[in-house]
Amino acid sequence: MWSSLYFLQLVAVLLVLGNTLGAHGTQLAYDYYKLSCPFVETIVKEEMLSIFLTDVSAPSAFLRLFFHDCQVQGCDASILLDSHDYFNQNPELASSKNFGIRKQENIGHIKSRLELVCPGQVSCADIIALAAKESVLFTGGPHINIPLGRKDSTIRTYSKQADANLPSPGITVDQFLHIFTSKGVNLEESVAILGAHTLGVGHCMNIVNRLYDKKPGDDDHQDGMDLAFKAMLRLKCPTRVPLTNLTVVSNDLTPLVFDNQYYTNILMGKGLFGIDSSISSDPRTKPIVGRFAADQNYFFNVFSSAFVKLSSTNALTHKKGEVRRQCNRIN
Ligand code: HEM
Ligand SMILES: *[C@@H]1O[C@H](CO)[C@@H](O)[C@H](O)[C@H]1NC(C)=O
Repeated sequence: MWSSLYFLQLVAVLLVLGNTLGAHGTQLAYDYYKLSCPFVETIVKEEMLSIFLTDVSAPSAFLRLFFHDCQVQGCDASILLDSHDYFNQNPELASSKNFGIRKQENIGHIKSRLELVCPGQVSCADIIALAAKESVLFTGGPHINIPLGRKDSTIRTYSKQADANLPSPGITVDQFLHIFTSKGVNLEESVAILGAHTLGVGHCMNIVNRLYDKKPGDDDHQDGMDLAFKAMLRLKCPTRVPLTNLTVVSNDLTPLVFDNQYYTNILMGKGLFGIDSSISSDPRTKPIVGRFAADQNYFFNVFSSAFVKLSSTNALTHKKGEVRRQCNRIN
């Protein structure tokens, strides 16, 4: 009798142990750092708060950094590898698709603080994902719980990989949906993840094609862009080929707040990039845009599940990657 109870207890203990070991095994896990770096999320949050207080545009930068990291070989901090070494004179960051990417050095800074607390444990890829999730929360968006345990890439990547994998602002809805459905993100979630454009800005070079490519006499209304909005954009970006890269235009009316304003804007013909406008008219995506514009909580819920999927697909786990000592170089 007693011995069989002990046996059951032993089994239970082994199961729990097995789970904990599993967390350090081949899968991402919500409690991945429970033993190896229990305060990692608190430390990242603290560091992010001090960055946010000195730079209101930081949250949008971290959110885009996260997408651009995950879009090239999965979320593996490949975007942080810089040209410090002779063999990587054309890092991902040199791609024109990465124009405007900022704040990489802050990830390196957080990493060095974590190295003091729990050396060799926390990957740069996890720091990028945590920074993005804090950015969403800080600006008024949902609290998203993400699994951790991503490893950093050990393979050098180049600007040509970024060129090939990062989407252009004028992609079609088909191309857009393909990018996300190939990661297991469904139709509704794909529309939700683009709601990240509720934060931040764009540069003229990503907009001018929509403003000046029309032949004379073309109906100005054919692309569905609000005419007053188009006139405003033409004032901001007055030449077909931008003369500087200094001008920025807000992604939506409230570029510092994570809300559903983006969807209201694009329904009114005030989408900044081609793809923003396209999803507001395509019969597959338009009803979803309408639903998000009407119900912010619903948008937040779907955005959260999309974010978790985007952050987990193709993540390198276990021995498929490493924990870099410095985020900008392979160990
Ligand atoms: C496939 C679709 C996407 C396209 C074509 C696209 C395109 C762009 C472009 C052209 C910019 C402006 C860059 C500049 O001119 O400085 C931009 C900015 C931004 N994108 Fe996207 N994007 C896409 C998806 C995403 C996703 C999935 C996220 C995040 C989860 C995201 C987050 C952002 C943010 C936050 C900004 C503002 C950056 C800043 O203010 O510095 N985008 N995007
Ligand atoms: C703006 O940046 C893009 C991408 O890096 C570059 O190709 C272009 O020459 C720059 N334009 C100006 C006017 O500096």
